[in-house]
Amino acid sequence: MPGRRNSASMRSKHLIVGVACILFAAVYGCSQQTPHRGDAVIADTALFVPPDTATIPHNATGDMIRYGRDLLVNFPYYLGPKGSVGSFGGNGLGCQNCHLEAGTRPFGLNYFSAHARYPQYRAREGKILTLGDRINNCIERPLNGKPMPLDSKEMVAMLAYMQWLSTGVPVGKRVHGDNLKAIALLDRPADPGKGRIVYERHCQRCHGDDGQGVIKEDGIAYVYPPLWGPLSYQPGSSMHRLIKSAQFIKYNMPNDIASWDKPVLTDEEAMDVAAYVNDDKMHTRPQPDLTNEYPVHKEKPLDYYWPPYDDPFSAEQHKYGPFKPIFEWRKKNGHPTGY
Ligand code: HEC
Ligand code: HEC
Repeated sequence: MPGRRNSASMRSKHLIVGVACILFAAVYGCSQQTPHRGDAVIADTALFVPPDTATIPHNATGDMIRYGRDLLVNFPYYLGPKGSVGSFGGNGLGCQNCHLEAGTRPFGLNYFSAHARYPQYRAREGKILTLGDRINNCIERPLNGKPMPLDSKEMVAMLAYMQWLSTGVPVGKRVHGDNLKAIALLDRPADPGKGRIVYERHCQRCHGDDGQGVIKEDGIAYVYPPLWGPLSYQPGSSMHRLIKSAQFIKYNMPNDIASWDKPVLTDEEAMDVAAYVNDDKMHTRPQPDLTNEYPVHKEKPLDYYWPPYDDPFSAEQHKYGPFKPIFEWRKKNGHPTGY
């Protein structure tokens, strides 16, 4: 991982992006700046640069940091269904399939500020969670598995890596690039039919015509992860939420050519393909009971698909949009507007 610095021209680009984000935030709330989570606003407009792996110390702490990074890169080998250390993940997905490049890709679900922002109130559980609890959430939902003991060596190692990665991030703050990047909300519902065409053109060559991806020869981890089906993430995973999924896809997929500063898809294409991937009529997923999620109903994110809601909009609209009317209604009625 190179410890690269931002050039002056990149800085000014970030400044423009940052200002655009602030303007956007004023109208629709900037992406995941969910007020009910108590996150502080982005502190800086320069893109955060995580420390270089070459600076991990050569002592007992450094060994744990390196082990934690290895676990987050190769999770299925250590802790998946056929893991060498334990079996907690319930499918072949690994953290890095979503938290790209060991959790260091800007706008790619990185862990830049995660360690600085936990413990944190989580609306889904209606209580304060530690970062270890939050990791277990991802093992239970995207990985369809069971929680790890919080005091296990492996959990402590992952936390040690995340803490090291957030070196220099002030406690309780976000840094620029640590979130998913905002996209425009459409004035119409996202369209899974149109999304299918986007999928065939831009996604199928890796994720497959059946969306099941490609498993490595060892049968343990994926070359290209599945996007739906029994071996994919559960509904109720954040990746199943339309806006979040579209934000991830637009600035990271196709994985070989797209990046946050050179996206391939338009906002519309990203929303439509996210609707296709996450469509529960066309595709199946492992289905947990989500009845007890978000005990305070008005705290459900705009794009959370499981009723009941504390607003007058249908489950269909919460799933596919249009989201602006929901946003405006919630704002007017003093409800949380996060997504
Ligand atoms: C299918 C995709 C997927 C997989 C696989 C996955 N996650 Fe996540 N994870 C997400 C999404 C989406 C979020 C929500 C990010 C947000 O709210 O913007 C998230 C959030 C998190 C957070 C909170 C980050 C923050 O800054 O608040 C942590 C920590 C985390 N995941 C760790 C893990 C670990 C460790 C694994 C592997 C055991 C894992 N995740 C596997 C999709 C995934
Ligand atoms: C060049 C191959 C390639 C293409 C094309 C591609 N992806 Fe991916 N995708 C990947 C890889 C590889 C990963 C996992 C990243 C890793 O493990 O480093 C991934 C991860 C994902 C994930 C998160 C993991 C999961 O299982 O949910 C989603 C969602 C996703 N891709 C959606 C898409 C969509 C939608 C498109 C089309 C717009 C697309 N991808 C195009 C290679 C590709």
